[in-house]
This record gives sequence, C-alpha cells and structure tokens, in this order.
Amino acid sequence: MGKYNNMSWVLAFVGFMLLGGICKANGAIYNYDFVLREENFTKLCTTKSILTVNGSFPGPTITVRKGDTAFVNVHNQGLYGLTIHWHGVKNPRNPWSDGPENITQCPIPAGTNFTHEVIFSSEEGTLWWHAHSDWTRATVHGAIIILPALNTSYPFVTPDAQETLILGSWFKGDVNEIIEEALATGGDPNISDAFTINGEPGDLYDCSNETTYRWLVDYGKTYLLRVINAVMNEEHFFAIANHNLTVVAQDAAYIKPITTSYVMITPGQTMDILVTANQSPSHYYIASTSFVDGDVAFNNSTTTAILQYNGNYSAPSTIPLPNLPDHDDDTAAANFTTQVRALASEEHPISVPVNISHRLFITVSINERICPNSSCDGPDNNALAASLNNISFVTPSIDILQAYYGGINGVYTPNFPDKPPYFFNFTGLVQNNTIYPSFATKVKMIKYGKEVEIIFQGTSMIAAENHPMHLHGFSFYLVGTGSGNFNSTTSPKTYNLVDPPEVNTIGVPKKGWAAIRFVADNPGVWYMHCHLERHSSWGMNTVLIVRNGNTTETSILPPPAYMPPCSKS
Ligand code: C2O
Ligand code: CU
Repeated sequence: MGKYNNMSWVLAFVGFMLLGGICKANGAIYNYDFVLREENFTKLCTTKSILTVNGSFPGPTITVRKGDTAFVNVHNQGLYGLTIHWHGVKNPRNPWSDGPENITQCPIPAGTNFTHEVIFSSEEGTLWWHAHSDWTRATVHGAIIILPALNTSYPFVTPDAQETLILGSWFKGDVNEIIEEALATGGDPNISDAFTINGEPGDLYDCSNETTYRWLVDYGKTYLLRVINAVMNEEHFFAIANHNLTVVAQDAAYIKPITTSYVMITPGQTMDILVTANQSPSHYYIASTSFVDGDVAFNNSTTTAILQYNGNYSAPSTIPLPNLPDHDDDTAAANFTTQVRALASEEHPISVPVNISHRLFITVSINERICPNSSCDGPDNNALAASLNNISFVTPSIDILQAYYGGINGVYTPNFPDKPPYFFNFTGLVQNNTIYPSFATKVKMIKYGKEVEIIFQGTSMIAAENHPMHLHGFSFYLVGTGSGNFNSTTSPKTYNLVDPPEVNTIGVPKKGWAAIRFVADNPGVWYMHCHLERHSSWGMNTVLIVRNGNTTETSILPPPAYMPPCSKS
C-alpha cells in the first residue's frame, strides 16, 4: 500500500514512545470478498429467499487485529442496490467507506461491486457489519472480531477459546415489503416472527428443534463469548442457564468486569463476555428475549441456543432455561447498564472531554404526520413519524458526503438546531404542537477538534420508549443517564467523568435522558440515528458533519477512484 516506508516507521516509533503504546503503527492488510446473493432458507416451517452475503445467514466474520485495515470488495449479485456499513469502526478520515445509503454513498447497483477500505484504529473487541439500506440488514449482517495487536494481550485471563453469538430477527414476509407497507399506511410495521441466535430460532418455535444452534464447550475451560445484537426493533435480555456472565468489553472497548446472571443489550451494541464451563456437564439453554418498556407492539417470544458440554453423560430430560427479567422490567435493565464503567487502566486509558465547546440538546420523539390520504393507520388516523429536535429526517436522493465534498447545493441544509423548538415537560403529559415535526434534511456542522456534549432527552410524545442512539465515525463516553427531564444544574453533578464507558450505541432510557461526550477529531459525514429500525425509517436520524482541521492529517481523505453512481442525481 506504499505506506511501509522508513519515515513512517520512524514516526510510528516516535508516536509509540510518546503515547505509551496507543499509537497506530501500520497494521496488516486483509482482503475480503462479500458476494451478495439471494438464497433459500427454511425456518418456522416455511422456505423463503433472503439476501445473504456469501450464502450464509448470518454472514461471514471479519477478523483483524487492532490497527489493521480490511479491504472488503462487495459484489452485488442481488436484485437491488444497497450498501454495507461497518458498525462501530471509526474509519478515521475515511467516511467514503462508512456506507449508510445516501448519507456517505449511493447504493451499489445490482451487478456491480464496490471496495470498502475499512480502517481500524482504537477499536479492540467485537463489532459488526450490516447492510445500511431499507430493512435489508435483517439478513445482511455479520461479526467483526478485533483481536489485540500483535505482542499485546487481553486485559484479563487469556480465554481458552472464543465463540460468537449474533441475535437476529426473522420475518416470514419480505422485510422491505413490511416497512414499505408500514410507511404507506402510516401504521406500525409487522413485528418479527422469531428471534434467532446465529440464524436459528431455537426449539421454543415451531419446526426449529433440529436446527437449534449448539455451542459445544469443554468442562473447565473459559471462553470469550462475543454477543452482537442485530435485532431489528427490540432491545434484549440475554442469559445462560446456571452460568455467570462476566462482561469485559462493550462496543469494542474494555470495561471493568461485571459478573451478572443476565445482560441487557440494545440493537447495535456488542458485548464481550467471559463464560467458564464450570457446571455439571450437561445441556443448558442460552436464551434471549425482548426488553421493551414502552406501550408498543413487540415480539415477546424467546430465542434459544444450547450450551452443550462435550463428554459422556446422559442428556438431561429437561434442559434448564435461564431466568430472564420480564419484558418491561426497566429496573433490571438499569441495574445492568448503570454498572458499566470503562476499564480505564494504564494500558487502556480513557480521555474524557472536560472543556465542552459545543453542546447539543436533542429531544428524541415519536410523532405524527398528517395523513396524506383520508385515513392512516397511525394514532388519530394520522401516520407515525419520529424526530430529533422535532425534525424528522428526510433522506436525500444523492449522498450528503458527495454534496458536502463537492459543494453541491440543495441536498441538505446545515441548520440542525442545537436545541428543540420548545422546552416543556418532555417526560410528562405532552400537549402541544411538537406532536407534528417538520420534515427536512438538516445536518449539524461541527468544527474539527471541538469537545462535544450531546444530551439526548427522551419524550413521552405518542409513545415513550428506550431509544438506542448510535453515532457513526466515533465512539463516545456515556457520562450520565437519568430519568425524567434533564436539569442543567443538578444533572451534570451526577456525571461520571472518571470511568464512563466508551461506546457507539446507548439506550436513552424511556422518559429519561443520556449525556455523551466526544472530541470531534474525525473529519467526515457521520450518520446519527436510533438503531430501532422502525424509528430510523420514521425519521429519528440526523447527520453530523465534522469539518476539516488545518492540516492534511486532520482532513478527509480524498475519495477513492470509484464510488457507486447516484442514478437519481
Ligand atoms: Cu449499525 Cu447506522 O448503524
Ligand atoms: Cu428509537
């Protein structure tokens, strides 16, 4: 790649000395081919064709070491154009490969291919990749495993082996038809028909006994379990019968170990968990089900896999199930999430911004859109919508990155507001005209190097719910969460500025708030949205554009020679 010249090694060495080892020396280069194609799968007694990568569901795993780069050539042999996103990978200075459709690129047309340069930097642990067009991510997703750099090791006991479990959603119908129909009628999209673990619903569902995913373990060994929530519309509680979980990383950053009997994981989040096979050799259920503390329709079924010990013993007549909290148990969810703290060790230091120079206060709401026909299926015979600061995001017809980089007018406006149009009792009984948002493509411009704080304020509009907000291009520190309305005097006093977790997706509590901080040191065009797919489809999105700094090293990389064309431009 022409990067292995002497000068960069000298610089890398100097950087290593200065930064105590957190520098990014040139890493290894990997090449992957992703072939998108339709494939038949039979689940829940019916066969249907789904879009896959390389014919598998979930798709292939990308494995790298910290600081490496992966070139992924996506060959679209499917029926329609789409894009792929590397969730949680910061891709420094390289928004060209980030992927969200019509945000950083136009879809890869069917019959063509596009190579992404996925640049890993500080991430270490588990992330994932997924389609970022319509609802295609339901079947087009897979794991990204980032091992410690060469000659470094985990900040915990070296596991004997590792395992990845991906939680997913299965719909009997066509996912894109489901969301298109919902958007057309204005109502809620159909809920999924099952959840899956590594593509299999598990034996609590019809016709699923034989295919239940089995994780084989040896008695006495300790495993590094990587759990990814790729579910479309529900947060999840996850547990393994009789086995403790010791959570050691979240969103590819280490945390202080938490030993627990269950975790709450939102769509978009990943967790690295140590599991020791220390129970009597037998079969134990791994189970995962929804955590939805709102008054909304959701899938309340449970997906299972089996933790199965190797060896000679008679299989149990009944396999024990773990105790999962109730679907609406927000105390159980909070009891877990409030324990999460950054490891913040000498080898894995953190650096929490304390001189905030750009503050955003963003309300996160479900809304109504006036029905364009005589009657819609949403509340008040209107259509459902969603917004950030009362602006429901409209996806433009060509990508924002190209418009920004090339100075094309009329694609977006740079006036996403720093606060909502009205301050009211956000989490009380909402009675004002913020029920109807405006519909626009407004982005927030941020100067390079600013220390940014964003306070997400949940509201009770239409339906109060937990919202897993996700930001591309960054990980950020979750410095505080609370219930009710954020209070600018008292709430910051509760912040954790010592060891807040460094994550890329956070659950904004139902009728509560969450505060995040980061340094705007990654120039580019970065999508920010709720990772509940229906909320994002309704407009719970915006874009942060981090401007270039003063040097080449603090500016966006030049675009690759080829980007997929924008046919509608
Ligand atoms: Cu997991 Cu915008 O993505
Ligand atoms: Cu949401």
